[in-house]
Amino acid sequence: VVRLLIDCDPGHDDAIALVAGAHFADVVGITTVGGNAPLPDVTTNALLTCQLFGIEAEVHAGAARPLVAPPRHAPEVHGVSGFAGPSLPDLERRAASDDGVGYLIDTIRNEEGLWLVALGPLTNLALAFRQAPDLPGRLAGISFMGGSADVGNRTPVAEFNTLVDPEAAAVVLGSGGRIHMAGLDLTTQFPVDDALEADFRALGGTGARVLADLIRSYLDQAERLTGQRRGGLHDPCAVLAVTHPEVITSELRRVDVELNGRLTRGMTVVDRRAAPAGGREPRTDDEGPAPNVHHGHTVDRAAARRLVLEAVSARDRTSRAADR
Ligand code: RIB
Ligand code: CA
Repeated sequence: VVRLLIDCDPGHDDAIALVAGAHFADVVGITTVGGNAPLPDVTTNALLTCQLFGIEAEVHAGAARPLVAPPRHAPEVHGVSGFAGPSLPDLERRAASDDGVGYLIDTIRNEEGLWLVALGPLTNLALAFRQAPDLPGRLAGISFMGGSADVGNRTPVAEFNTLVDPEAAAVVLGSGGRIHMAGLDLTTQFPVDDALEADFRALGGTGARVLADLIRSYLDQAERLTGQRRGGLHDPCAVLAVTHPEVITSELRRVDVELNGRLTRGMTVVDRRAAPAGGREPRTDDEGPAPNVHHGHTVDRAAARRLVLEAVSARDRTSRAADR
C-alpha cells in the first residue's frame, strides 16, 4: 500500500481527495496551505474532513501566504470559509502544529519512499525543498494538482494553484524529483455535476451528505459564474494518479511556469511538441531543456467516479461505526 503525505487547501475537491487517499492508501500526515480560503479556514476544513471520515492522520498547518506574491483566495468559488454549503458538525479535532513545513522535512527525512500529494498552492513544498534540498530524492514522487496544458480557470491561461504561488511552482518543477501533474486539461475530464451530488447523497452517511451539500453549493456558484452546473473534480485526480495509475495516462513532458508575463503569470507551459525521432530519449540541451514532468493526459472518468464513490461510502461507514 502506498504511503502518502497530502498538502491541501480544502475546498470540497481536496476533501474528496483526502477520503480517497485514506481509503486506498496510508495517509501518513496532512499539511494545509492558504489557498481556496485563508489558512485557519482550510485547516479547520481539513480537520472536519478527518473527523467526518475517521481519518486519524495528524494535520499540521503550513504557509498562510505565497513565497512572494500577495495572498489570494477563492471565496467566489468555495465561499469565504472554503466549505460553503453544509451545516457542519462542531470541530473536535485540533491541528498538531503550525509548522507544516518542518513537519514535511522531518517526516520525509524519517521515511524514504513516501508520495507527496499537493492539492493547493505549492508554497509548503517550495519552503521545505529550499530548506532541505535532499527531500525530492527521498520521495517516491510528487503528484500535484495544478497548472494546465491549455486554458486556465483563474485567468485565461493560469490555473488557481499555480497562479497563487508561481514562484513556489517553479521551485517544485525544478526540484529534480519524479513529478506527476494533474492539470486542468486532465481534471476537467472528471466532471463534478448534479449526478455526482445525487450519488453522494444516496450513500446516506453524514460525511457523504456534507460532500453532497458542498458540491451543490459549488455548482450553484458555478451556475451563477458560468451558466453551467458543472466543473472538474480536480484534486482526486492527483491521488488516483498514485493509487490507481492505470486510470490515468501520462506523457513525459517539459513543463515550466511563467513568472514575469503581464498576461501569462502563473501559466504552466507544457511542451507537447512531438518527441524527437527515435523514441523517448530525453532531449539534449541544444534541443531545449530535458522533460521533467509526467503530464496527465487522459483519465478514465467512469473508473475514477466509481473509485471516489467507493472510498466515500467505505470511509463514511467506518466513521459511522466509530460513532456508535
Ligand atoms: O484550480 C483548481 C484547484 O484550485 C483545486 O485544487 C481547488 O481545490 C483549488 O485549490
Ligand atoms: Ca485544492
